[in-house]
Amino acid sequence: MPFTPDADLELSFAPELIPAEIDAELEKHGLHIRPLASSDYRRGHLDVLSVLTKVGDPGEEAWVARYNELVKAGIYNVAVIVSRETDRIVSTGTVFVEPKFIRSLGTAGHIEDIAVDESTQGKGVGKALIAALTAIGQSRGAYKILLDCSEDNVPFYTKCGYERKGVEMAKYT
Ligand code: ACO
Repeated sequence: MPFTPDADLELSFAPELIPAEIDAELEKHGLHIRPLASSDYRRGHLDVLSVLTKVGDPGEEAWVARYNELVKAGIYNVAVIVSRETDRIVSTGTVFVEPKFIRSLGTAGHIEDIAVDESTQGKGVGKALIAALTAIGQSRGAYKILLDCSEDNVPFYTKCGYERKGVEMAKYT
């Protein structure tokens, strides 16, 4: 499929929130980082997430309904990295901003659902994605950005400038 320029897409947030220098670096590898678009179901958004966990396939209509829900909520920024050669998504990740009462009505950022397609891993794409999501969170006023990860991914996030803090706990319901 030919590459679709941003101007021909309905994007989920202002692309200016993504630092131009991160996109310029990715462009050297034939990649482009941009906000998730309303037609990205067709570019394999769910396929790339399957490196992370069980994804399921709700179908395009339900995917678009969730897309609209996230856009309307206004606190989610889902970024994707697309191959210029294939127009397929090779990586995706989310940062959402949480309005708080503490810290004088401060805002905390949370990074979630980071995935790089297996054939693209180990080339610096994940690091570029985390840099972009961190910058988006900062631009949206986050005084800190948090994420949970497995022990295996600690070296990756350390390389991205993150450090251990607290303990993650979970209860599956
Ligand atoms: N162990 C040690 N170092 C690592 C690892 C690792 N598992 N993964 C990456 N690194 C290092 C790289 O060597 C590189 O070091 P350098 O800057 O000195 O060269 C640096 O981290 C950046 O690596 P990238 O090439 O940018 O990493 P990649 O593009 O492969 O993305 C990721 C890493 C996101 C973990 C990818 O492998 C992936 O999608 N894995 C499967 C899904 C997953 O685990 N996602 C994260 C879940 S946590 C969450 O979502 C908040």
